[in-house]
Amino acid sequence: MSVSVLTSVVVKEVRIGLLGCGGVGQAIVQALTASDDRLSEAGLAVRCAAALVRDPSRPRAVSDVPLTNDPDVWSRYDFDVVVEVLGGIEPARTLVAQTLSAGVPVVTANKSLMAAHGVELQALAAAHSTSLYFEASVLAGVPCVNTLARRPLASGGGAWAGIVNGTSHFILSEMTRGRSFDDALVEAVTRGYAEPSSDADISGRDAAEKLTILLHLAGHTDVATADFPRRGIDGLETWHIEFARRLGGVIKPVALVDTGQDAGSWVGPAFVPASHPFAQVDGVTNILSVGRGESAVLFSGPGAGPGITALTVLDDVVEAVAGRGQRTLLAPEVSASVAQRLRAPRTGAWCLALDHVTSSAGELAEFLASNHLPAVSLAGEGRRHAVVTASATYAALCAAVDAIEATGVRVTWWPVVEVARG
Ligand SMILES: NC(=O)c1ccc[n+]([C@@H]2O[C@H](COP(=O)([O-])OP(=O)(O)OC[C@H]3O[C@@H](n4cnc5c(N)ncnc54)[C@H](OP(=O)(O)O)[C@@H]3O)[C@@H](O)[C@H]2O)c1
Repeated sequence: MSVSVLTSVVVKEVRIGLLGCGGVGQAIVQALTASDDRLSEAGLAVRCAAALVRDPSRPRAVSDVPLTNDPDVWSRYDFDVVVEVLGGIEPARTLVAQTLSAGVPVVTANKSLMAAHGVELQALAAAHSTSLYFEASVLAGVPCVNTLARRPLASGGGAWAGIVNGTSHFILSEMTRGRSFDDALVEAVTRGYAEPSSDADISGRDAAEKLTILLHLAGHTDVATADFPRRGIDGLETWHIEFARRLGGVIKPVALVDTGQDAGSWVGPAFVPASHPFAQVDGVTNILSVGRGESAVLFSGPGAGPGITALTVLDDVVEAVAGRGQRTLLAPEVSASVAQRLRAPRTGAWCLALDHVTSSAGELAEFLASNHLPAVSLAGEGRRHAVVTASATYAALCAAVDAIEATGVRVTWWPVVEVARG
């Protein structure tokens, strides 16, 4: 990092080493130009010194950054900060580890990398007196990661719930307007909301990775993405959404985890009562609640997109240059392992959609009650019914669903999102 004096302003030159120059990488280069005045006022002259890509001959929206597909050539440039926007695990993990081992700070937007290896990479950064910043890896447009990292006591509430994937939220929002899943997916791809592979969005893997990062941030470093019970949104049908509406709610793609006494988690579609804050947001908007009851903190805003992700990455670059170290492993109160206790949804109310029902609504309610899953509200038409139940354990739900399915009825169930208990 060189320092020069122009008139009376001290300008610090900052050379970024880009790992990846795709959607986000190019947006970063463009955002640097657009933010030049603001950065100059802060005394920074930031430029991308070189970028590692797979195919340097591919046409790109930016032309002033040297490109290479050879990691050895890339690493011979001098960098003050490395920005990793390759995606995936390798070669990102190896290159980030090499950079941190050389004492150079890294900013990443890569949730897969952070969920799988964030804990070890943060430890590596600490061992080499440098930092790893990852605000853009979770809800890139909502400043929650650095906020939570700096408020470990105030925000270590033990309960997290959110709509943390914009693509699946957009698809379900479109389905509430009557579109089929397939139509809504095509629209999401056309609008550029879907990630390089939409499978991560649809299957809930993207949301589960973000939840993993949030739990690591709170000190639950033993938790892995595979610990969360997860279901994709691709099994949803338009009548599910319509019957949820008749029951006074909406189906949303949620990520829930509670590490308290009644621990549990869920990543996938869930029934959200119309009065819940999650029912008030729509489209690609993300929302995250941290903590329980009256002490819960709510974050909401645009989830992602290359433009906002690029600006969030650059904010982290400025933090890195200023030497404001990222907090690493937090939550001093956390000691016991929770991963084991998160592998099933917690006790609560459930919403069931039942197809091929031949009995009356009254008989169905009686059947559910005799199977320890009493209905609280019920909507039906023809051979289809939907039910919101009283609170029951996951084991009771599974036993009742088995009993119903043994009669030839097809059952789809979702947890009901409740306001977190204090
Ligand atoms: N898109 C968003 O809105 C968003 C929001 C938040 C976070 N993120 C995260 O940001 C990261 C990047 O996303 P993106 O949308 O920019 O992805 P992308 O468009 O696919 O870009 C990936 C870049 O990495 C390069 N690359 C991939 N594998 C490589 C390899 N093995 N060797 C060398 N170069 C390689 C690609 O090279 P080529 O260009 O030559 O193919 C490309 O330039 C991901 O982790 C994603 O989850 C994205």
